[in-house]
Formats: sequence, structure tokens, C-alpha cells
Amino acid sequence: MSEFQTGPEFAAAVDARDPLARFRDRFYFPVASDGQECLYLCGHSLGLQPKSTHAYIEQELQEWAKRGVEGHFHGRNPWMPYHRLLAKQTAALAGALPSEVVVMNSLTANLHLMMASFYCPTADRYKILIESGAFPSDQYAVKSQIAFQGFNPEESLLECRPRDSESYLRDEDIASIIEREGSSIAVILLGAVNYASGQLFNLPEITSLGHRMGCVVGFDLAHAIGNVPLHLHDWGPDFAVWCSYKYLNGGPGCVGGCFVHERHARAFELPRFAGWWGHDEPTRFRMGPDFQPMAGAEGWQLSNPPILALAPLRASMEIFAEAGIERLRAKSLTLTGYMEFLLQQTHSPAFSILTPADPNRRGAQLSIRIAHDGRSLCDRLAAEGVIGDWREPDTFRVAAVPLYNSYRDVYRFVQRFASRFS
Ligand SMILES: Cc1ncc(COP(=O)(O)O)c(C=O)c1O
Repeated sequence: MSEFQTGPEFAAAVDARDPLARFRDRFYFPVASDGQECLYLCGHSLGLQPKSTHAYIEQELQEWAKRGVEGHFHGRNPWMPYHRLLAKQTAALAGALPSEVVVMNSLTANLHLMMASFYCPTADRYKILIESGAFPSDQYAVKSQIAFQGFNPEESLLECRPRDSESYLRDEDIASIIEREGSSIAVILLGAVNYASGQLFNLPEITSLGHRMGCVVGFDLAHAIGNVPLHLHDWGPDFAVWCSYKYLNGGPGCVGGCFVHERHARAFELPRFAGWWGHDEPTRFRMGPDFQPMAGAEGWQLSNPPILALAPLRASMEIFAEAGIERLRAKSLTLTGYMEFLLQQTHSPAFSILTPADPNRRGAQLSIRIAHDGRSLCDRLAAEGVIGDWREPDTFRVAAVPLYNSYRDVYRFVQRFASRFS
């Protein structure tokens, strides 16, 4: 028997005993044209704004106004070490040591920096394995890295594909391609949660198998960080990159992040694209001509960080620290399971869920394949304040985010969505 029920009283009852329900009030919800709060299920694309964000930015604007350049060294939170205010909380979400993470740049820029260090192709080992349908920016980045190293992207990019008529990859198919091709794979780079299907890969298994085969392993955590608990230090991938505007609620284009495993903390011999902010801190301001990297992930920094863009992330990270990623995941599993249950109860042939049914193989997102006219349906829903997003050719993506979505949101969404097909 299902743990869920179809009526609205079920949603009301679960919301009433949800220990995380109070966090909803900490966020602004967009308002629809009728003046009502939107039904916002788009945290996989752009997370909502914490109400405390203004104050964090305002504080730094005031420091700047009051102190000018002295703000780098004085004030409540001097800007020189400002990025470190995020290290502990970021590390908690990544399952890493604070020295293994750094908040900097944007995702694609970080991916290039990581590839510059970790993609070191040889005549025998030169391939990069990605999932087919990886996010386009990742595909562009790795293809350009392959070409930059003088190899042919046509031969060097290996794509792991779902079987015919299946919508996501089977674990055993990922394993078998790594076993079969491993000796020629230089880097395995997977989106930890695939942006289109919502599939969460078996990151520890992939890491250990990849390493057994001698490959470097890296993950794009854009859709994973803040969505599912991660244990990067223990799982042991070599690197990971992410953005902060999805589940991390840092705001549009917010600064991304990077993980470099401790085993590479002092790998100063690795090739790297250098900048002064990655230079050994005590001697950085001697302004010498030779680059000496800092130990740890900070050694990949290029520039002094944009404080006004880091400030919003502090607002969100404070909330994450209070809520706790394990508690959020527990709620997320039931919220998403509830959405799946309600969608299935409609028994509509007009749409199907293409995200894995196994809760261990997905995060908050469900990707719904719509047989006909999905795009215009999605636009009509958006005009009414029901916000998910559309990915060509046929996928409507929605995510019930445990920090700010309720069971009632899920109930109302499925009512509105399903009514379009009856
Ligand atoms: C999976 C994935 N990778 C990469 C990117 C690109 O991120 P950025 O624009 O921060 O480089 C995105 C953006 O949405 C993404 O979803």
C-alpha cells in the first residue's frame, strides 16, 4: 500500500507535521499576474531568493561606502578572506574538507580550469567519457579541451547512451563502457544529476571503477549540490565543479564552486592556468614574477572574488546549515515520491515520467515527457503562475524543492497540470 493518498487533506496533514515547513517563509515567491504567489517548481533552474539576501549585500555595500579599499582588511567581514566564510558550509554540502572546496568563477570556467590540470592525454589514454545528452556547455568545454590538446573530438569523446527506447542510463551500461574502454579513457566527466532526465548517477561506484581503470574522475554537480547529500571526500573523485544559482539559491549567475580532492592538494606539478589569487597567500603581495600555488582547491583561484556576488550565497548557506542536507533529502524523497504518485494516479497516456523511478537514482527533479504540444502547455501554465521549465524536444521539468516547496504545492501542481489533459 502506498504511503501517499490522493486527497488534499493528505497534503495538509503532511505539511502540518513537516519540521522544515517553516523555511518556506524565508524565501520570496514570485507573484503571478493575478497577484497570487506562483506555484514555483523551478529550483532546478533558478532557486528562490532568501529574504535575508538583501541584508548580506547591503552590509558589503556599506562596508565599501564606509571604508573603500580598507574593506579588504577591516570591518565585520574583511574581503580578503571573505570567500572562506563559505568554505565550511560549502564543504558540508559537498561532503568535503573545507580545504578541498573553493567558491569562485562560474561552472564552465571552473570546468576548463579543472580540465587544464586533469586532462593530460597521451597517445594511449586520451578519451573523455561523458553521458550522451550532457549539458551543452560541458560538451563544448570538453570538445574544445580535446582540440586544445591536439586530439580529435570525433575520436576522443566517448558518450554513454541509454538503450534504445530507454530514457536514462543503466548503471551496468556505465560500468561496462568504463571496463571496456577504461584503458584509453583519460577523464570520466559526468553530470552527477543529468539536467534533462534528472537521473542521479552512482557516484561512488563510478569513481572507484574509474580509478581502478586508471582514469581521472570528475563530476558536474550543477543539479546535485544542495539537492542530494554528497560525500566527495570519501567517494574520492579527483575534481568537481558546480554553479550556485539552482538548488543553492545564490541568485542569477552567482559564483560557482570547485572541489579538488585532498590527494591533489599539493600536486604543484600539475599543469594549471594560474592567476594571482591562487598564489601562495603569505607572499602574494610581494608581487613576484613566479607563480607558487597555494595548497588545496584555493590554489586554482585566478582573481580576487566578487564580494557582492558572494554575499547572497552566504544568505542561502546560512539557511542550509540550519536545515541540514540530510533532513532536506529525507523531505525531498517524500515530496518527489508524492508528486510521482499523484501523476501516476491520473493514468493519463498524454505524458510519462522519464526520470528513474528508483528514489536512489534521482534528486528533487521529475522530467515529464509530453507527447503533444508540450511547449505551449508549459507556456500556458507559466502564464497562470505555474512555473516549471521546458527542454526541447518534449520535456517539462519540475522540482519540488524541500527548502521552500510544500506538499500542498505538489498537490496543486498536479491538479493544474493534469486538468490540461482531461
Ligand atoms: C549541468 C550544467 N552544466 C553546466 C552549466 C553551465 O553553467 P554556467 O553558465 O554557470 O557555466 C549548467 C547551467 O545551467 C548546467 O545545468
